[in-house]
Amino acid sequence: MDKETVLCVEDLGPIQRFRLNRPDKLNALNGALIEALDRGLNALPKHARVLILSGAGDRAFAAGADIQEMQALSAEEAAAFSRRGHEVFARFEAMEIPVIAEVHGYCLGGGCELMLACDFALASSQAVFGFPEVTLGVIPGFGGSARLVERAGLTAARQLILTGDKIDAATALRMGVVNEVLAPDALRTRVDSVADKVVKAGPRGVAMAKRALALAAQGDRRTALAAETELFGLCFSTRDQAVGMEAFLARKPPVWLGH
Ligand code: COA
Repeated sequence: MDKETVLCVEDLGPIQRFRLNRPDKLNALNGALIEALDRGLNALPKHARVLILSGAGDRAFAAGADIQEMQALSAEEAAAFSRRGHEVFARFEAMEIPVIAEVHGYCLGGGCELMLACDFALASSQAVFGFPEVTLGVIPGFGGSARLVERAGLTAARQLILTGDKIDAATALRMGVVNEVLAPDALRTRVDSVADKVVKAGPRGVAMAKRALALAAQGDRRTALAAETELFGLCFSTRDQAVGMEAFLARKPPVWLGH
């Protein structure tokens, strides 16, 4: 793997992989890595159907935003850094294809915030989670407070964010911070199998479902339910709806068109 590249991008056809690649710094998220994520998203090929995010090396998914880089920021520069993180992380939520975080080792601060912007989080049993920002005199700056409340509820969010406590994978699972916990040597296989299920599903349906779920997560129930009706209707203006239902009735596997 190229040590100069802060983000390694692998095109495996419908499955795309982004690997955070600063293993010597436990994949800490500096400005360059955040910009590389943005560029990686710009360059995703049209055939991409699912994106997997992971961290290089055997120690971390990401141990947070880069403390060395943040140390000397002015208030204005810090706000700009946070804003940029928000913009880029929000792209993972807004994109049509699902994003899977494959988490091993440390997943702290900004690393946890990146994981929370993904649709699924599958973790090694040896992963360690936490929001240590308050122990550094700051707060999560990449959307973590809102997304952790959405993902795990206010009680868990208060416990994690106000104490800076680190928790193990079993606790993260119990709190609803991650979807599944796997033995370290089973993680990759399970991630690939979840990715495969997404790839086998109808692309338009997956995209519309992701949009409906994002609206549901934002809290306004009436708007979310109205949007679901619209999106459900919209599915029937796609060829994939015909393909999926015809294939079911003919007892054949669907051959998706993606439109
Ligand atoms: N920002 C910048 N560099 C980081 C980093 C971060 N968030 N987390 C780890 N690193 C760097 C360390 O400075 C060290 O670099 P060096 O070898 O050049 O000195 C390298 O990664 C390895 O980390 P180290 O602290 O030596 O490993 P450890 O096993 O002793 O401890 C952690 C691991 C995760 C407990 C510890 O690195 C840590 O607490 N990191 C910060 C976590 C954090 O507060 N994140 C939120 C940031 S807002």
